[in-house]
Amino acid sequence: MEKHINVKLHVWRQKNAADKGHFQDLEAPGISTEMSFLEMLDVVNESLIHKGEEPIVVDHDCREGICGACNLVINGRPHGPKERTTTCQLHMRSFQDGDDITIEPVRADAFPVIKDLMVDRSAFDRIIAKGGFVSVPTGSCCDANALPVKKENADLAMDAAACIGCGACVAACPNASAMLFVAAKISHLALLPQGQPERYTRARAMVTQMDAEGFGTCTNHGECEAACPKGITLDNIARMNRDYIKASITYRPESATGGF
Ligand code: SF4
Ligand code: FES
Repeated sequence: MEKHINVKLHVWRQKNAADKGHFQDLEAPGISTEMSFLEMLDVVNESLIHKGEEPIVVDHDCREGICGACNLVINGRPHGPKERTTTCQLHMRSFQDGDDITIEPVRADAFPVIKDLMVDRSAFDRIIAKGGFVSVPTGSCCDANALPVKKENADLAMDAAACIGCGACVAACPNASAMLFVAAKISHLALLPQGQPERYTRARAMVTQMDAEGFGTCTNHGECEAACPKGITLDNIARMNRDYIKASITYRPESATGGF
């Protein structure tokens, strides 16, 4: 049943990457429990605009849990208190009247703050650009359907492909590691026949770019798996590590192979 609650927000405000930033305390009265968390922020922003103040900058796009743009750290947890739920799909019924809610951006050197709660996640795009695709000829759509794929591999590939690139794994990790994200992207292609020709060059190139972007390494805390709204599992990191080791052992620079 719909209720209306009053919550107190402690929102991170930061003009740009160079600014030190600070928390701003804001009241959010009469919030419907049927509202999503982003709708609650929309209401708060409208009242800030009415008062002639700067609205809070928040990243979002689909509001359906599929684009990954909306990752906020809510009361210390990426995407907030509900398991397997993105910020845009979190509802105010998950909070109580009188709650204090602290809202911060993802804090990682590789994700500099653009403004307030919005961070620059283009480091993920640069990792994908290094190999998160298939560039060899794989035929047309009907060829893909005609190619047998083991049921177990098809299921695992689909599970890995569920990653939405939100960066909650980075936010949750004490090392700000991006290994769960990169492992998901490497795994979903490594498990399919179409991904095999470039499997090891892909693993090497994407892991090398991940390191160059300044993400930390994995020390098996498992916080990433717990925070991931799409249920991406640590097994993917093990698969990525196996592929990366194999790629490193078999790697020959182009100068030694003439490009082959
Ligand atoms: S692995 Fe999970 S937490 Fe990390 S980017 Fe993908 S969906 Fe987000
Ligand atoms: S706005 Fe797209 S996943 Fe939340």
